[in-house]
Amino acid sequence: MSIKLNNGIEIPQIGFGCWKVEKSICAQQIYEAIKAGYRLFDGAMDYGNEKEIGDGIQLAIKDGLVKREELFIVSKLWNNYHDPKSVKLAINKVLSDLKLDYLDIFYIHFPIAFKFVPFEEKYPPGFYCGDGDKFIYEDVSLAQTWAALENLVEEGLVKSIGISNFSGALIQDLLRTCKIKPALLQIEHHPYLVQEKLIEYTKSQGINIVAYSSFGPQSFVELDHPAAQDSITLFKHETVTKIASNHSVSPAKVLLRWSTQRGLLIIPKSNQKERLLANLKINDFDLTQEELDAISSLDKGLRFNDPWNWNKIPTFI
Ligand SMILES: NC(=O)c1ccc[n+]([C@@H]2O[C@H](COP(=O)([O-])OP(=O)(O)OC[C@H]3O[C@@H](n4cnc5c(N)ncnc54)[C@H](OP(=O)(O)O)[C@@H]3O)[C@@H](O)[C@H]2O)c1
Repeated sequence: MSIKLNNGIEIPQIGFGCWKVEKSICAQQIYEAIKAGYRLFDGAMDYGNEKEIGDGIQLAIKDGLVKREELFIVSKLWNNYHDPKSVKLAINKVLSDLKLDYLDIFYIHFPIAFKFVPFEEKYPPGFYCGDGDKFIYEDVSLAQTWAALENLVEEGLVKSIGISNFSGALIQDLLRTCKIKPALLQIEHHPYLVQEKLIEYTKSQGINIVAYSSFGPQSFVELDHPAAQDSITLFKHETVTKIASNHSVSPAKVLLRWSTQRGLLIIPKSNQKERLLANLKINDFDLTQEELDAISSLDKGLRFNDPWNWNKIPTFI
C-alpha cells in the first residue's frame, strides 16, 4: 500500500526505522529488509549508522535485488546544522555516507537549533554543542532553515522535504512563509500519545503523517528512560492483548494496524529478522471502529521523546 504525498510522489505506507540499529548488523539488516520487501528506510544523521545503511543499499543494488529509483531513502537534518550554510555541508555529508546522489526525503529532525559543531570535532554530535554539557543555541529561525531545504529540492539533491517533532503552532507559522509545503510530518505516536488535534490539523493542510515509536515505551526502556520504566508495556496492556486475541494476531500487529487504520505511515524498527518480516505484513486484517476507539482511549499524553529543555541535557539521551 502506498501513500500519495502533496507533491505527487507516492511512498510506501510501511518503512523500516533505523534508529538504534547496531552498526555491526546494520548493513546486513538493510539488505535483509530490502530482500523482505521494504523500500522505505527512515534514517537520520543522528543515528550514526548512515555509512552502514549505504553499504546495505549498495550491496542490494549490486546483487540486483532492487534499483535505486525503487527505494525511498530518508535522512534528517540534525540540530547543529540548522544554519543555511551548514545545511549544504550536512546534505553533502549524508549523501557521501549513504553513497547516493540524492535523498528521497530530508526532514528537519527537531525544531531546535544548536551551535554548529564541525564533523571532525564530533559526529554525530548528539547533544554536544562544543562546551561540556551546556546547550548553545544558534540564532537561526526555522523559516531560514526551511528555505535552505527548499534550495536542496531545487538543486535536485532531495525529492521531498519534511518536518519532525513540530507542534501545530510551528507548522502553522511555517506554512505562512514556505515556498514548498512540507510533504510529511513525523511524530511520536502510540496509544499513550494519540495526538488527535495535531493529526487533524496537519491532515487538513494536506500534509501526511509518519508515526514513530509505535510501540510506545518499548523503544525507550532500552535507554533507561524513567517514564518508560514506569509504564505498562503496550504489548501486555489488557486492552491490546484482548483485541489481539480477538483476531489471533500479536499485540505488536494490533499496535501497527491501529496506526495505519488512522491513515498514518509507520516505520517500526527491529534488530530481529522475524520481527522485521512480521512488521511489514500488518495490513491484512481490520480492527473494528470499537476496537480502534478502545485503543485510542488509552491516551494519556505521555511523550517519551522530548529533548526540548532549554538548559539541561535530558537524562535519557
Ligand atoms: N523523528 C524522530 O525524532 C524519531 C524519534 C524516534 C524514532 N524515530 C524513527 O522511528 C523508528 C521507529 O521508532 P523506535 O525505533 O523508537 O521504536 P519502535 O519501532 O516503536 O520500537 C522498537 C522496539 O520494539 C521492538 N520490536 C520491534 N518489532 C517488534 C515486534 N514485532 N514485536 C515485539 N517487539 C518488537 C524492538 O526490539 P528488537 O529490535 O529487538 O526487535 C525495539 O525494542 C526509529 O527507528 C526511527 O527511524 C524518529
